[in-house]
Amino acid sequence: MSPRIRLHKAIAQAGIASRRKAEKLIASGKVKVNGKIVKKQGVIVEPSRDAIEVLGGKISPFAKRKYYFLLNKPVGYVTTTKDPRRRKTVMELIPDIKGLFPVGRLDKNTTGLLLITNDGELAYRLTHPKFEIEKVYNAEVDGDITESELKKLEKGVYIDGKRTSPCKIKILNKAAVQLRIHEGRKRQVRRMFEAIGYRVLKLDRIEYAGIRAGIKRGACRKLRPSEIKDLKE
Ligand code: URA
Repeated sequence: MSPRIRLHKAIAQAGIASRRKAEKLIASGKVKVNGKIVKKQGVIVEPSRDAIEVLGGKISPFAKRKYYFLLNKPVGYVTTTKDPRRRKTVMELIPDIKGLFPVGRLDKNTTGLLLITNDGELAYRLTHPKFEIEKVYNAEVDGDITESELKKLEKGVYIDGKRTSPCKIKILNKAAVQLRIHEGRKRQVRRMFEAIGYRVLKLDRIEYAGIRAGIKRGACRKLRPSEIKDLKE
């Protein structure tokens, strides 16, 4: 007998999607339990007894083999499993294994580290703001930034009326800086620079949750067991 758990957690554990994505799937009527659409959040299920279907496919109650890949994303690929506009997606750059999805997102023109997995539980922990996962970006901007402007960024600037958390900044050269942040708001780095009057010309994520690439742009590697262990801790 498997334990009784919330529906969105059962979907994440089966490796279908992150918990947050699972909640969205439920809300949009894409999930059935024992043949009936369930749109309410928080419904309790027993995965080994209840028949759970997501997007018409039955999910397995048994833990699937988990995969963890690190992609060094090139420019021009969108971070999604499927693009309705048929643009190139990051999924074209990784092994063709069913159920994989990217953890969080990088903009089409951002390069660097992107984790791809079928482990919904881990994806949830890495993307939920309360866990404050650290990311390091190198940003090149369209002008020479002054010390006082950088201080503003470090202390926090307003994006959509909400102040960004304090972050750490290292100057690489006059128009390039390294930012260490633990938030993951949409287009966060680009909008932080827009807030002080600069446009980001190049953005590269060089570190994610303590992991560094060690692979060429466009390449993908499996995470090492020690890296997976560290992420889970
Ligand atoms: N911040 C951005 O502005 N873009 C990204 O792709 C990642 C972080």
